[in-house]
Amino acid sequence: MDTVVSGIRSTGNLHLGNYFGAIKNFLKMQRENNCYFFIADYHALTTHPKPEDLHGNIKQVLAEYLACGIDPEIATVFIQSDVPEVSELYLLMNMNAYVGELERTASFKEKIRKQPDNINAGLLTYPVLMAADIIIHKANKVPVGKDQEQHLEMTRRFARRFNMMYDVSYFPEPDAYNFGEQLVKIPGLDGSGKMGKSEGNGVFLADTPQEIRKKVMRAVTDTGPAAPVQEPTEPVKNLFTIMNVVSDQDTVKFFTEKHAACEIRYGDMKKQLAEDIIKFTDPIRTKINEILADNKYLAKVAANGAEKARESASKTVREVRKIIGYRSF
Ligand code: TYM
Repeated sequence: MDTVVSGIRSTGNLHLGNYFGAIKNFLKMQRENNCYFFIADYHALTTHPKPEDLHGNIKQVLAEYLACGIDPEIATVFIQSDVPEVSELYLLMNMNAYVGELERTASFKEKIRKQPDNINAGLLTYPVLMAADIIIHKANKVPVGKDQEQHLEMTRRFARRFNMMYDVSYFPEPDAYNFGEQLVKIPGLDGSGKMGKSEGNGVFLADTPQEIRKKVMRAVTDTGPAAPVQEPTEPVKNLFTIMNVVSDQDTVKFFTEKHAACEIRYGDMKKQLAEDIIKFTDPIRTKINEILADNKYLAKVAANGAEKARESASKTVREVRKIIGYRSF
């Protein structure tokens, strides 16, 4: 049985990228493995959310997790900040993470570009906290989207470095895991880049059908293929990528053939895509609202999850302290 850890930041509602990049795999894994799925609300602090929003964001993401089908009876579902042991392991791991390698991380470089007024040390050490999240449960599998691949490589490196430094084989080196498929990157509706929480290019699981139709109809395309059997341009390819995960294969085939024959009408394609997204998200949205209304249930899930996660985390921290050389008097 594998031990699986994966998390999602609580900086915004879950979108199709989160679902098809990560959650879909959580659902497949939860029955047969020892799974820890959590809400990364320490990581969320790197963007400085307002205190009055923090709890609501966490609650929303927890409800969305559960509405997707993550089962807290079989997986350990918890909030990162309910497990303070992770901050101790983060501190310890920071001693073996080098500033040079952290500065070279793609996500850090991107943040410098995107938020030049807030290049905090938490952004620099973000991959160390993520590694601590994973190795604290000694996970060997981590279901994530393509964008987290480098962070996972760093996790492996930190685990390996710890083992070598103390001459132990304590931490496993965890693999990204997507059932033998390529790691997924769901693009946004803006014609370039990945779908994100704050990029303004996403379709959220909690969006109403009206919102979805509006967003999809506004998606960037091109002026149409100029010659038969021409490769779709980037923005159109992106729409096909989304269609591939939400629509049935006949629909994808139909529009692919229309494109290849130079007969495609993007308006028709978008209409179909919007309806297929709605068909997929509508039951989830109904569930989100049901779960959000049940505060008692959410509180119980969070408390049970925290207890189970702390049990595993505190064991690891105890053992790590011993390996490092801490002793009681
Ligand atoms: P986050 O919150 O940005 O995304 C959560 C998960 O969704 C995946 N994802 C995507 N997959 C495909 N296409 C997209 N457009 C897309 N957008 C997001 C991400 O790959 C991720 O699996 N650092 C992490 C959270 C984290 C974590 C961890 C994950 C903290 N600790 C430990 C795994 C293990 C993050 O910001 O993900």
